[in-house]
Amino acid sequence: MSKPILLVTRKLPAEIEARAARDYDARLNPHDEPWFRDGMEIARRASEARADGVLIAAGDPMNAAVFAALPDSVKIVTTFSVGYDHVDVAAAKANNIIVTNTPEVLSFATAECAFTLLLMAARRAGEGERMVRANQWEGWAPTQLMGVTLEGKKLGILGFGRIGQKLAAMARGFGMQIHYRDLRKLPAEVEQGAIFHETDEGFLRAIDMLSMHVPGGDGTRKWLDAARLAQMKPGSIVINTGRGGSVDDAALVAALTSGHIRAAGLDVYDGEPKVFAGYLGLENVALLPHLGSATIETRDAMGERALQNLDCVLRFDLPPPHRVA
Ligand code: 8YV
Repeated sequence: MSKPILLVTRKLPAEIEARAARDYDARLNPHDEPWFRDGMEIARRASEARADGVLIAAGDPMNAAVFAALPDSVKIVTTFSVGYDHVDVAAAKANNIIVTNTPEVLSFATAECAFTLLLMAARRAGEGERMVRANQWEGWAPTQLMGVTLEGKKLGILGFGRIGQKLAAMARGFGMQIHYRDLRKLPAEVEQGAIFHETDEGFLRAIDMLSMHVPGGDGTRKWLDAARLAQMKPGSIVINTGRGGSVDDAALVAALTSGHIRAAGLDVYDGEPKVFAGYLGLENVALLPHLGSATIETRDAMGERALQNLDCVLRFDLPPPHRVA
């Protein structure tokens, strides 16, 4: 029996590509050419290959036009990401195409990234590193680059899902008190003492540091705007490892410039890899290039998870475990 045809839009870890090539007639993108800039390139290649499945990643613009242009041979689109705001799930359904993602396996790595940014922002690590690299460090001084400690601070987690809960566990180890905002109050065994807030305002007024873990898309667009920033305590810290579109960049730059927000740490950007220009000249913002899930262990596990979903649909005729559409 011939192997199912699988189009893979991005270069993936070597073991994952090897496994894809073993079990599928895999059409890889070994040089990571930027098909992601135009979804039509993906549709064109899928048609050319008569692909049975397409393995995409965050940033591949799978909009309604792309779904309409996919050949009818395509049964499944699996994204190498937990987020699927780049996938028009309604269009996938309309075209009878299954969509799956890769939850759970990246929760710890993404929480680690948020925690890295939290420490960088609180302890001014970026500023310090730039000073040393620029050969401008004249020696230790009692008042040099003083940051704030995490110990005893109230960490507000927006979106207390898998990633938010991992972050809470890390933060407890630093003596932080956990507050959260979510659609509803969660069971006590999930909360582990975290304090639920029923309103955005009550939540923002209570906390010292905010870490955002909400999905992208219209529902969360510019959630952190000037009005919500104003509700935060002076000297607060903002971290975002979810999706860039959830932050009103101009409002955050204004708050960082005035000092109302002490510091921020960002891993994701609206329209990335474009970064809002206002951040680039600010010392009090740590900027990472979407490193959330970028550990060797996690990227391998994400690849395995993507292949597991593909296997179910294309090789074993089983329901895929991580179906989102
Ligand atoms: C990765 C992410 O960059 O999974 C997500 O939703 O944002 C990140 O962890 C992404 O998985 C790469 O496709």
